[in-house]
Amino acid sequence: MTLMLVVIRGVTPLLRHPPRRRLFCLPSLFFTKSLCSLNEKIQIPLCNMKMEYPKVRRDESFVEELHGVKVPDPYRWLEDPDSEETKEFVEAQNAITMPYIEKCSARESIKAQLTELWNYPKYSCPFRRGNRYFFFMNTGLQNQSVMYVQDSLDGEPRVFLDPNKLSEDGTVAISGSSFSEDGEIYAYGLSSSGSDWITIHFKKVASGEDYPEVLEKVKFSSIAWTHDHKGIFYGRYVEHAGVADGTEVVSDENQKLYYHRVGTPQSEDILVVEFPDHPKWRIGAEVSDCGQYLIITTQQDCRDNLLYYAPLPEHVNSKIDLTCIIDTFEADYEYITNDGSVCVFRTNKGAPNYRLVKIDLSDPAPEKWVTLVPEHKKDVLDWAACVHNDKLVICYISDVKSVLQLHSLANGDHLTTLPLEIGTVSGYSGKRTHSEMFYQFTSFLSPGIIYHLDLTQEPLTPKVFREIKIEGFNPAQFEMKQVFYPSKDGTKIPMFIVHGKDMKMDGTAPTLLYGYGGFNISIQPYFSVSRVIFMQLSKGVLAIPNIRGGGEYGEAWHNAGRLFNKQNVFDDFQAAAEYMISEGYTSNRRIIIQGGSNGGLLVGACINQRPDLFGAAIAQVGVMDMLRFHKFTIGYAWCSDFGNPDEKEHFENIIKYSPLHNVQTPPEGVQVR
Ligand SMILES: *[C@@H]1O[C@H](CO)[C@@H](O)[C@H](O)[C@H]1NC(C)=O
Ligand SMILES: *[C@@H]1O[C@H](CO)[C@@H](O)[C@H](O)[C@H]1NC(C)=O
Repeated sequence: MTLMLVVIRGVTPLLRHPPRRRLFCLPSLFFTKSLCSLNEKIQIPLCNMKMEYPKVRRDESFVEELHGVKVPDPYRWLEDPDSEETKEFVEAQNAITMPYIEKCSARESIKAQLTELWNYPKYSCPFRRGNRYFFFMNTGLQNQSVMYVQDSLDGEPRVFLDPNKLSEDGTVAISGSSFSEDGEIYAYGLSSSGSDWITIHFKKVASGEDYPEVLEKVKFSSIAWTHDHKGIFYGRYVEHAGVADGTEVVSDENQKLYYHRVGTPQSEDILVVEFPDHPKWRIGAEVSDCGQYLIITTQQDCRDNLLYYAPLPEHVNSKIDLTCIIDTFEADYEYITNDGSVCVFRTNKGAPNYRLVKIDLSDPAPEKWVTLVPEHKKDVLDWAACVHNDKLVICYISDVKSVLQLHSLANGDHLTTLPLEIGTVSGYSGKRTHSEMFYQFTSFLSPGIIYHLDLTQEPLTPKVFREIKIEGFNPAQFEMKQVFYPSKDGTKIPMFIVHGKDMKMDGTAPTLLYGYGGFNISIQPYFSVSRVIFMQLSKGVLAIPNIRGGGEYGEAWHNAGRLFNKQNVFDDFQAAAEYMISEGYTSNRRIIIQGGSNGGLLVGACINQRPDLFGAAIAQVGVMDMLRFHKFTIGYAWCSDFGNPDEKEHFENIIKYSPLHNVQTPPEGVQVR
């Protein structure tokens, strides 16, 4: 087996872009420690180059007793990213890796083809704010997409904000942003090198001029404007000391909600909400569509939130007293819109596939809730938004594919289903106050089609606003299908299989098997240049199983792959490899498994458990030390999927698959060569 561990800092796990903000807190922590263990035990036969691995110091004296079990951790010293010894270790690793990669003879030609295919213009959905339209566009190879403004849809676009100009190396990105209701001020977060930390800036839309103040120590924050266009609510880690650039490993605690009045220094910001008894809570804030209410959701892990609200005072000058609506972490509640005190929420309370309910803030007892759109028995109600005053746009996930519908806001009735091919709604823009909307469609074989729907027209006719086409890529040369294969326990797992029509079905096709399997993340069809190149160059096949732990079939699917069910995720992935072999696509030595973050854990666990099944493995920014992930940065939030290693029963479950603790030398002849 060829093992390749890719050490990438700040790589974000795969996420699509839903129309509403979701707190971004998924695992992307990489422990260099695990690399050591693996290097030590696995011989790496790479071409004909002999690899001489650097000697790495083992501290045999480091043994911890956890729940009565002695756990050696000889590379504990590698947990300090800033120590000289760690830096030397990283350099020594790179010193053997880079020359190897650079010697690969196909590298230049692959790079050239990738660059060529990547160089096509990428557009976001346009979105209207005030009387202007905005959109993001990347000409092809730009490091960051540029934001444009237009006075009308067919007007001449002008550059509004070009993040490429904000840093020498193109690593400063817009991360979170929001316009004032009148569309005249743009509040935008900037992050550096993929860090979760952002600084918030303000721009006058008409002149393009920035306000002088910059808000610091912001992370996992929403940006919510009061409707007087005067200021925003945002979340801040006031007490955070030391570096805040993404290389720090200290835990994030005590987020507080502040109100910032535009044009004033951050030091004058007003503390509005804090939960001193709950240092790990992250505070999400939203101002209701009517501008009258502040809606607060708090989250501790990566699922379930509490819900509070408060009527907004005319001027925010002091702490705001909240009324609690939901006081236990047991379900998700997402504000959609409201009429007076009656709010529409999307929730999985009593509905694992989600439903829409009306909750009257003045009488919020659960028995008074009214179901507006009931739960579907199989399809997940993935998101909803209000448009054209009285309509709801609802997007379902149906067997992993998107279904887009319009419903009546008054009674929830289904009005129409918008035509879509097999794929994903990857972008949406629309507002309750607007009578038009845009949505973007993508799939494995479609880089993107943006539709425009004018809701004043009868019958409703979506028009193609922009279709992205790529020179050198002809979708007709590929085919895609969805299969349902049995996992170890018989559960049917959906999987997309994509390949060129010229692929030979003789058991020799190189197979890229990609998975994630956790945190309720749904891997819906999306376009990937590197995978197209893989299919074209190697006549390979792409296999993307929707293994348990994801959200493809709602909470039940997620639950079936978390905590004590985590092994199902690994079983599903291994069964996918076995299916590809038994169906005659490929053989074990030609299967490459790939995953990042929680998917890196997946890859790590699978190569330990079934070294015979895969030819190569790419584990990107994986969570490999499952006994200590919760001690670093936002790691504690992942306990909702992994369990808390400080608790004995979880410890006993986790140690069975934790990649760092299960590295073994496979018996002779087992490992694929
Ligand atoms: C992207 O950034 C890199 C430096 O990190 C720079 O060399 C390159 O030219 C940039 N690409 C474009 C298209 O500007
Ligand atoms: C879980 O996944 C489903 C399907 O993608 C999604 O609708 C839901 O909002 C997710 N839940 C959370 C808490 O993110």
